[in-house]
Amino acid sequence: FIPPASGGAGGGATAKDELGNDVSVSKFLASHNVGDRALVQGLKGDPTYLVVESKEAIGDYGINAICTHLGCVVPWNVAENKFKCPCHGSQYDATGKVVRGPAPKSLPLAHTTVQDDKVVISPWTETDFRTGEEPWWA
Ligand code: FES
Repeated sequence: FIPPASGGAGGGATAKDELGNDVSVSKFLASHNVGDRALVQGLKGDPTYLVVESKEAIGDYGINAICTHLGCVVPWNVAENKFKCPCHGSQYDATGKVVRGPAPKSLPLAHTTVQDDKVVISPWTETDFRTGEEPWWA
């Protein structure tokens, strides 16, 4: 018996849309452009960006959208290919790595996997591939 990932004890959660419904990967890909980052509800309901890797696939990591400065939700700026916080001007590159303060840290990562056209988000506890450091959020 394999318990469902949604709300399970393993720490995974199914990504939800703004109405609380499970995100359909096929619909998500059909409605976003390659290179986009688009928000879903991730772990603990945190706003989390999924990466549109190609027409067929989302990226295997999600990016927590809560600014590490004082907690504003950071919008994706497609024209500049970065995240720019409207509150105090912090900037993060396309992977969520901080490139301009006052934010002290990069945006947290989460793992994303696709199961039955749904996105399962689970905690990222391994090395942060952007910095080569231990994840500060884990
Ligand atoms: Fe984002 Fe201050 S909360 S820069």
